[in-house]
Amino acid sequence: MSDATITEAQVRECLRQVNDPEIGRSLAELDMVRSVKIGAGNAIQLTIELPTPAYPRRERISQSISAVVAGSLPSAGPVDVEFTAKVKGKQTGGAIGLKAQNVIAVGSGKGGVGKSTVAASLAVGLQMCGAKVGLMDADIYGPSIPHLMGVNHRPQIVQQQGPEGQTIERIQPIDASGIKLMSIGFLVASDEPVIVRGPILHGTIQKFLQQTNWGELDYLIIDLPPGTGDIALTLSQLVGLAGAVVVCTPQQLALLDAVKAINMFRKVKIPVLGVVENMTGEVFGRGGARKKAVEMGVPFLGEIPIDAQIRVNGDAGKIRESFSASSPSRAQLLNVCEQTAIQIARTLLETPSMPTLEIL
Ligand SMILES: Nc1ncnc2c1ncn2[C@@H]1O[C@H](COP(=O)(O)OP(=O)(O)OP(=O)(O)O)[C@@H](O)[C@H]1O
Ligand SMILES: [Mg+2]
Repeated sequence: MSDATITEAQVRECLRQVNDPEIGRSLAELDMVRSVKIGAGNAIQLTIELPTPAYPRRERISQSISAVVAGSLPSAGPVDVEFTAKVKGKQTGGAIGLKAQNVIAVGSGKGGVGKSTVAASLAVGLQMCGAKVGLMDADIYGPSIPHLMGVNHRPQIVQQQGPEGQTIERIQPIDASGIKLMSIGFLVASDEPVIVRGPILHGTIQKFLQQTNWGELDYLIIDLPPGTGDIALTLSQLVGLAGAVVVCTPQQLALLDAVKAINMFRKVKIPVLGVVENMTGEVFGRGGARKKAVEMGVPFLGEIPIDAQIRVNGDAGKIRESFSASSPSRAQLLNVCEQTAIQIARTLLETPSMPTLEIL
């Protein structure tokens, strides 16, 4: 028995018993097994396709596979698992020509809780994991994404040929070390107060999504202004969002605002991916957001400590440095990115693609 040659079919059969540790369904059911090769000495080489390059602790998958193979196929040699990742999404930007698999809105009920910091961190973290990422600042009242990302020039308008040979103008997003960035702030001088009324706002957001050369993205992250539902409503009419990330601080007051934000997203039919507790620590306490998230039946996506370095990096336009090996908050920031990405993959399985209505 020990020298019997094992077959690909036997290995695939085995993999039916291995569950994805995050999604809780079998690798076979999730169609994650890309290739199975049997080599000399029954060595097994597998390629497993993850639903996101930001998959947390993928080694758990290799460990379960090795254990199941060892238990079911005694003649199997060593198992080598290689991972690839393919981000899938609702792909509902079609009506406005947006090729982003997943649009993620970052919101809060209250200002100053670290929404822009979290939005920029999500973009940086997901990109560092290998995803194609865009970042859009829709906070018309206080755009801050360009500053956080250290960008101080405006995007270029480029002329392109339209489908009927006509010349059309498109906006070339700023390349912030590989992240495609656009901001409402580019439209206004940074010291000018902005007053934009509802219909104009709607048009501006649509233009930003439609006329920007985003290209193909795995994730487009949108930093929303605090509180009001205007832009959330506009977005939900334009694209089927993957969902919203609600940021709050641990204090009671901020939590009440988070509840408001969750209800607001629910009202405009944007699924809530979960809650991030920001500025956890001695000043504001901890754990409040997790408790509230559980109470409201939404996932908790992690906590980010209050860390002077995060503020310093943000002020200096070097948010990326909060992810450096020496950053004390690196692990928690990455955890929030991973939890968000995996929650999107879970939500997608529960609610597969739905058509969006053409916007008139
Ligand atoms: N975890 C953290 N630790 C320390 N400082 C933080 C943290 N998160 C955010 N900050 C700082 O708090 C301030 C507010 O953050 P940010 O601008 O991201 O909040 P916001 O919710 O987007 O605010 P606004 O409502 O004005 O748009 C910034 O100075 C930022 O650097
Ligand atoms: Mg902000």
